[in-house]
Amino acid sequence: MTATKIRARIAGTGLYVPPKVLKNQDLEQFMDTSDEWIRQRSGIEERHVIEGGIATSDLAVESARIALAEANCTPESIDLIIVATLSPDHQFPGVSAVLQHKLGLETTPSMDLRCQCSGFIYSLNVAKLFIEAGQYKRVLVVGAEAHSPLLDWTTRGRDVAVLFGDGSGSVVLEATEDNVGVSSVVLHSQGQFADRLWVEKPGTSKGVWLTEEDRQAGRMFPFMEGRYVFKHAVERLTQVVKEVLEKEGLSIDAIDHFLFHQANIRINEKVAELLSIPSYKVHSNIQKYGNCSAASIPMLLDETIRAGKIARGQTILMAAFGAGFTWAGAIVRY
Ligand code: ACO
Repeated sequence: MTATKIRARIAGTGLYVPPKVLKNQDLEQFMDTSDEWIRQRSGIEERHVIEGGIATSDLAVESARIALAEANCTPESIDLIIVATLSPDHQFPGVSAVLQHKLGLETTPSMDLRCQCSGFIYSLNVAKLFIEAGQYKRVLVVGAEAHSPLLDWTTRGRDVAVLFGDGSGSVVLEATEDNVGVSSVVLHSQGQFADRLWVEKPGTSKGVWLTEEDRQAGRMFPFMEGRYVFKHAVERLTQVVKEVLEKEGLSIDAIDHFLFHQANIRINEKVAELLSIPSYKVHSNIQKYGNCSAASIPMLLDETIRAGKIARGQTILMAAFGAGFTWAGAIVRY
């Protein structure tokens, strides 16, 4: 008798963004930019930002609670917590440990995964493997980012600051014997390009303390070679979509929904064009939230499900590209 294959199905999802909204026009108060420039270059219209001592773990706990309620389960029933983030509350411990405590848990294992904008798909893969191996039955996967306190909100930082927002998205994955859930996943990284999109300092390789010169040069803020990253994002996303489809033995036509990382609407339009993906299958919410790095895909997943666009049994392809460089693709049967 052959053993039944255990799979990791999506039992519930959640989205949370802090209440404060910054519209493109609001940014004109701090820097030389315009609504027109931001919309045309990125598709972004507004983003949510934290205030008043709120940290990444506070965003994480809100979306986690929603996902747990949707999955009809308690925090105590979770066997493992994974948080994908590039904007942790502290250098250490990770957000996952802080979140675990905020969920009222005692000793549930928790881990952070740092793969920037690809972090959610990497985490999904880790969760899937734990579940398929039988080690855990229910895993909470959270993407959470509080970018706004880490950005340079002056004209010097405008090429990056206008693109990012704060938010979190959570997914509860649980073991099932049904033929649904996270299926093929493909992961890549290329550290050769680490310095094309990074926060240079503080860090152990470049000096733990910021010098006056570092401050003046803005080395503690994200740096991005925008055009270079754009070109690589289009190329790698296109490749990874093909790769994950091939691994699964499916064609574009067999995919009901494409959830791409929300870095720039033009990147996703270009990828869709290159792969001849019909635009109605490509979802986006960057207009309202900006780039929320590891949180973008779970936020989009939750919103698209809640809008009634994704039905149980349908097939979703997720793909992301970000700093590292890292990129990843996954096929999920909802
Ligand atoms: N407002 C007004 N003008 C601006 C702004 C702004 N916010 N930012 C830059 N500009 C100016 C530039 O200074 C430049 O002026 P110049 O021509 O006088 O020198 C001009 O606008 C054009 O700048 P470009 O950088 O060439 O603009 P581009 O069309 O390439 O768009 C963008 C920039 C939106 C950043 C794009 O390159 C992009 O989306 N890159 C990829 C982003 C991405 O995918 N990131 C990965 C995920 S993020 C992560 O992993 C953390």
